[in-house]
Amino acid sequence: MRRVNRNERVRVGLTLNGRKLSAQAEPRTLLCDFLRQALGATGTHVGCEHGVCGACTVLIDGIATRSCLTLAVQAEGREVKTVESLAGADGTLNPLQQAFRDNHALQCGFCTPGILM
Ligand code: FES
Repeated sequence: MRRVNRNERVRVGLTLNGRKLSAQAEPRTLLCDFLRQALGATGTHVGCEHGVCGACTVLIDGIATRSCLTLAVQAEGREVKTVESLAGADGTLNPLQQAFRDNHALQCGFCTPGILM
C-alpha cells in the first residue's frame, strides 16, 4: 500500500445522488466538506462537527452516516445520497418532505436535511 502525504491531494470518486463524480481532496478532508465544497452538494449542513447533532447525515450505500465523522476517501467507490436526492427532478417533494411541510416540522430548517436523511 502506498503511503500518502497528509498534504497530498488524492482523487475521490463516488456516485452522488445517481451521478458518478470525482474531485481532488486531501486525505484528511471530511466527507461533509468534500460534498459541500468540492461537489457543490450544499444541502448537507454542518452543525456540531462532532457526530452529535445529525445535521450532516447522508446515506452511504443506504446507511445513514454522519458525514462529519467520515473522511471523503472512505466514500471512494460508494453510493452517497444527500438531501438533494429526495425531491423529484420536477421539484415534487418526496412523501417525507411533504409531511414535514404539511406539519410545519422544519423549525429553523438548519438540521432538516440531516433529519430527512
Ligand atoms: S455536524 Fe453534527 S453530527 Fe455531523
